[in-house]
Amino acid sequence: MEVFLDQNKNSKKETKMFGNPMRIEMDGFGVTLRPHKKEELEKLAELYSSMNIQWYIQGTGAMTLEQEIEWWKHESEAKDSVIWAIVPDGSDTAVGSTGLHKIHPLWGSCTSGIVIADRKYWGKGVAYRAHLMRTFYAAEVLNRMTIQSKARVENEASVKALLKVGYRVSGKYDRDVFRQRYIDTYVLSWVHPGRAASLYPEGVPEELNVSLKLAWDALEVASDNVKYL
Ligand SMILES: CC(C)(COP(=O)(O)OP(=O)(O)OC[C@H]1O[C@@H](n2cnc3c(N)ncnc32)[C@H](O)[C@@H]1OP(=O)(O)O)[C@@H](O)C(=O)NCCC(=O)NCCS
Repeated sequence: MEVFLDQNKNSKKETKMFGNPMRIEMDGFGVTLRPHKKEELEKLAELYSSMNIQWYIQGTGAMTLEQEIEWWKHESEAKDSVIWAIVPDGSDTAVGSTGLHKIHPLWGSCTSGIVIADRKYWGKGVAYRAHLMRTFYAAEVLNRMTIQSKARVENEASVKALLKVGYRVSGKYDRDVFRQRYIDTYVLSWVHPGRAASLYPEGVPEELNVSLKLAWDALEVASDNVKYL
């Protein structure tokens, strides 16, 4: 990542890797992505500590405020990831986080993740709106060609939210996680529809057709509706 940042070495601002604030409003419901504030970390530590939240992500232990502050400091200086707090309309504080990680300086690739830790906000289209903004930012600001993600096979909402913006299921880890019983994890891949031809010089596989169309649609919807704040 140093290569990437070398070009920005005269600008301290550009080496801070919290994402720029942005907002999308669709069908009367808006979601804002903005940098996390230190004063909201205590609330987040509480929300993130629930096993109901950690079930489908990496965690297995409760979070302390100190661990959250450590994470916040680390992320604010991270050179290969960009994260945002998720603030839906109706909340004046972060209800979760989303981010792009492993932003490779040369390959145009990265990974993505999301947690909506306040369960009151599940099933309202928050993830869909956050994915639209994050994907738009990855393509238009970070110049990403591909984004890789993972979701437990049985995490229907997470899989659906990713498929909707143009990810496709590209692989699966079998029985890789134990959550009372062993469960499977999908790998989901997003390919920039404008770059597919150069990424697949031997011909774009037909199996990408649906996801590439959805990815174009998502970029278009985002382009029409995302506002940088
Ligand atoms: C998974 C998660 C990100 C989904 O966020 P969300 O804001 O509730 O999702 P959305 O409201 O945007 O819904 C996305 C899609 O899933 C569907 N959906 C929502 N809740 C669902 C549920 N419980 N079961 C099945 N589908 C569901 C929605 O209808 C929508 O599909 P549609 O557009 O075809 O109608 C959120 O529940 C969460 O953070 N969970 C805990 C941590 C986690 O699982 N993170 C993801 C790890 S990969």
